[in-house]
Amino acid sequence: MPLVSMRQVLDEAAKGGYGVGAFNVNNMEQIQSIMEAARETQSPVIVQASRGARAYSQDRFLYHLMIAATELYPEIPTVLHLDHGNSPETCKSAIDMGFTSVMMDGSLMPDGKTPSTFEYNVEVTKKVVEMAHAKGVTVEGEIGCLGGIEDGHGSGGSGLDHLTDPAQAEEFVKLTGLDALAIAIGTSHGAYKFAKQPSGDTLKMETLIAIHKRLPNTHLVMHGSSSVPKDLQDIINQYGGKLKPTWGVPVEEIQLGIKNGVRKINVDTDNRLAITGAIRKVFMEKPEEFDPRSYMKPAREAMKKVVALRMTQFGQAGHAKDYTPIPLAEMAKKYEAVAV
Ligand code: G3H
Ligand code: 13P
Ligand code: ZN
Repeated sequence: MPLVSMRQVLDEAAKGGYGVGAFNVNNMEQIQSIMEAARETQSPVIVQASRGARAYSQDRFLYHLMIAATELYPEIPTVLHLDHGNSPETCKSAIDMGFTSVMMDGSLMPDGKTPSTFEYNVEVTKKVVEMAHAKGVTVEGEIGCLGGIEDGHGSGGSGLDHLTDPAQAEEFVKLTGLDALAIAIGTSHGAYKFAKQPSGDTLKMETLIAIHKRLPNTHLVMHGSSSVPKDLQDIINQYGGKLKPTWGVPVEEIQLGIKNGVRKINVDTDNRLAITGAIRKVFMEKPEEFDPRSYMKPAREAMKKVVALRMTQFGQAGHAKDYTPIPLAEMAKKYEAVAV
């Protein structure tokens, strides 16, 4: 089947009361890991590429690898999503290439660092909604800012610096007409989220619940949702790595979010840790090896294990065959009908 609309995948997740992991990719092996995990668990899946990933893969390599994924895994509803688009132009280039979903992250200025104003965020997000919906493409926006910085993207600081205001979130959705809303409830990008084990009140789940009460029909998105498991950290350190002790987002907190309107969960760091640990292990144990396949295969397998586990924990497992994909042209007509 062709790449599908993220809106449809999230609508179905809302009906079924489950969440869908959105996993970042930069290369063939990461795409293969996700697609194999999706087949094993029979999951619909969101594959996402950041601006950095698009630059790394010269854009077209990544796009064509995703087309290969749809050919090789025709039974899996697969979304190709732009992660943290920094401007309407970036979103347009993704839409023109064939992405079926884009994130316009107007919570930050185009530099990807400076928190923006509410008015700026509304203006750029609305512009992308108009452009994307005309082609049946889904739009994710963000209100409030995540902490941390990945590849230059993020407001820096802790995840608690720019939390989402529920009333502002409601206003934002009304003014932009977006499909999915990323909220800031204390998470941040990268491995160093929390310096100690998070307790029940580390993440602002009451804010999430308040947002869901105001916006029961908006799909909420949790960024910075890697759990940074200790066993993955240990493998890296055991084989010569130097990670400092760190904690991520407990899966139980994500599951509580899913009970309260979270439909898309962004995970990148956990997969990076799994890949790095597996490669380090081969390098230490078999220093004579120099065939990249000798370490890329175990790396691919390690990432697949993490992704399959998250697919089961988020509840998307078993839902790949629940529905027939709606073509983007039909999605565009649906958006048009609602707008009139
Ligand atoms: O937004 C954060 C994701 O982990 C992507 O990271 O910008 O380094 O590709 P990146
Ligand atoms: P992690 O760094 O927690 O994996 O978050 C990834 C993310 O939010 C991508 O947008
Ligand atoms: Zn993010």
